[in-house]
Amino acid sequence: MEARQNMRMYPRSNILAAGRAFFFLLMLGMVKEPNVHSEPANITVDLSKPKAISPDLIGIFFEDINYAADGGLYAELVQNRSFEYQATERLEWGPMTAWELSTRDGGRGSLSVETAVSVHPNNPHYLVIDVQQPGAGVGLVNSGFDGIPVQSGAQYDFSLFGRQLFIGNRWGNNGKLDQPTKLLVRLETKDRGVLGETTVEVSGRNWQRVAGAITATNSDSSARLAVLSLTRGGVAVDEISLLPKATFKNRANGLRPDLAQAIADLKPKFMRFPGGCLVHGHGLDNLYRWKDTIGPIEQRRGQGNLWGYHQSVGLGYFEFFQFCEDIGAKPLPVVPAGVCCQNADHQGGTGQRGLPLSEMPAYLQDVLDLIEWANGPATSTWGAKRAAAGHPEPFHLKYLGVGNEEHITPVFGERFKMIHDVLKAKHPEITVIGTVGPFHSGEDYDAGWKIADELKIAMVDEHYYEKPEWFLNNLQRYDRYDRARSRVYVGEYAAHESNRANTLRCALAEAAYLTSLERNADVVQLASYAPLLAKQNRTQWRPDMIYFSNTNLVRSANYYVQQLFGQNSGDQWFPANTAATATNLATSCVRDSASGDLILKVVNGGAGPQALAIALSGAKTVSSSATKTVLTAADVMAVNDFNNPGAVSTQAAPIAAGEKFDYEAPPYSLTVIRLRGR
Ligand code: AHR
Repeated sequence: MEARQNMRMYPRSNILAAGRAFFFLLMLGMVKEPNVHSEPANITVDLSKPKAISPDLIGIFFEDINYAADGGLYAELVQNRSFEYQATERLEWGPMTAWELSTRDGGRGSLSVETAVSVHPNNPHYLVIDVQQPGAGVGLVNSGFDGIPVQSGAQYDFSLFGRQLFIGNRWGNNGKLDQPTKLLVRLETKDRGVLGETTVEVSGRNWQRVAGAITATNSDSSARLAVLSLTRGGVAVDEISLLPKATFKNRANGLRPDLAQAIADLKPKFMRFPGGCLVHGHGLDNLYRWKDTIGPIEQRRGQGNLWGYHQSVGLGYFEFFQFCEDIGAKPLPVVPAGVCCQNADHQGGTGQRGLPLSEMPAYLQDVLDLIEWANGPATSTWGAKRAAAGHPEPFHLKYLGVGNEEHITPVFGERFKMIHDVLKAKHPEITVIGTVGPFHSGEDYDAGWKIADELKIAMVDEHYYEKPEWFLNNLQRYDRYDRARSRVYVGEYAAHESNRANTLRCALAEAAYLTSLERNADVVQLASYAPLLAKQNRTQWRPDMIYFSNTNLVRSANYYVQQLFGQNSGDQWFPANTAATATNLATSCVRDSASGDLILKVVNGGAGPQALAIALSGAKTVSSSATKTVLTAADVMAVNDFNNPGAVSTQAAPIAAGEKFDYEAPPYSLTVIRLRGR
């Protein structure tokens, strides 16, 4: 969200590096390419000199931006299920957003939003249906997040909290409390065609949760959910929920399976969440507080997010940690550093503000409680809450981010130090990740690194969204990093064109950059592309890795780069000599010790095929059994979109490898050659 600057901190001093970058720019079609015929190039890897690298390098960063959570990864189909949308989140919003009154055949009645006796103080609003004449039903209809996608034959779990009310003299059965309120719950088309239905009953004056299931008899990509009272009198309803029975790994309150699977297929080694700028929020009252996001959903406290819409936190900390476990990724939560966003335009543009120092002890305790909640025994105060949610075993939290892209001010520094000190003293086993501002260089970057040096922070989080040229010009960035300083997490990065997102050209620039991160994965421990998800017609930020609609998804070219690096990561890196003629190439060779597989990645930035003579020397044996996976497209400016989701794609095939073998890298391509270890 910040206006990004393109400040270059590293003047190019290395002529070789400059030459390489120039040729890469040539290759990726960024400057006019002379008619050069590519000479065959040698790649000679020395397998006798392994360097230990981070096994966690390739991960993901999930932020609720672009409707990534509600209406996205979180499978809930009802929008504004607890009537908590507010005009402070968006001017045209209120408790009735996405809902409308519906009366059927002779029905008469009204709706009102009330707060007198709520289900939980964190969810003050609820809806009262006052039925004067039931007819064929009086109630409300929800339009979902741009419609509710319904699939014929699929089951949907419905639930709500309800209680009966006395309204005037219209108590259900002549004023007596002996008749429950019958609710017809129906999935229907826009024109009220029935797609499936059930009935539930609410009885008594206290809130109770009632549930039912609907099996859809037809498909509709833009259905509605109707909840219609068939009983005269009043009924209050809240937390009206509809979730597909089939969620990812069939988790309760779970995730949309196709999106979750696409993320799992990246094989990320870690997942950072829940943001991004979302974490520090647009004011001190908008900090992301993890404790508000756990426990029964009716007790969670949703709020407007910094990206201008409501987050129900139905996808909360428990679901994030569970998802990490389900996909084999280490959790990397980020907590606010006790300050809000420097760009907070909230309440008159006050910018960055810090929590009052008097509130810091309680805040520090919140951070410590998170570690107990994640890692403590089920008998501990916070571990017991995790266990109550269904996870008695610890979540094995190892990484914890503190702050995101902060303006490095004394206010920030003071609070960051407090959090860092307490974590270091009480949880030396946790790797604390600090922040060095929003850009790859500049004032905040320098000030952030100064704090990192002073406090000896284990790791710092660097971010950069830049043109592909920048990535190619900076392939040596981490070769120059001082190994005695903090380790690095490249927490957010993406290459972007000025007028076209997610081109193959950008993806290949990222691939070339990733080879440099692998080479430097002794210092760069973690890296994650950003943002991860973007909903069609709700996209606020480009480029993104995965685009989705209610029923479909598109994997970008950048997704495939991440997937190839994620699925083919290693824990040892080997030096290689790539001949001087090979200026259009970026390569990296790693071994995955678990499988023993050797993995060679080759980015050909050239417009022509590149012949390669590959030598893997210095090992006792090298397998000849190998697979090559190639990512490319007909055009370097190709983009995957909903009309053409396969413009840029991967193809796998066996290849005869061994100590010495030849390979021709296609124009504008990333190839991963994986040689079987055992
Ligand atoms: O990834 C989108 C945003 O970019 C993140 O929220 C923030 O950290 C950065 O400015």
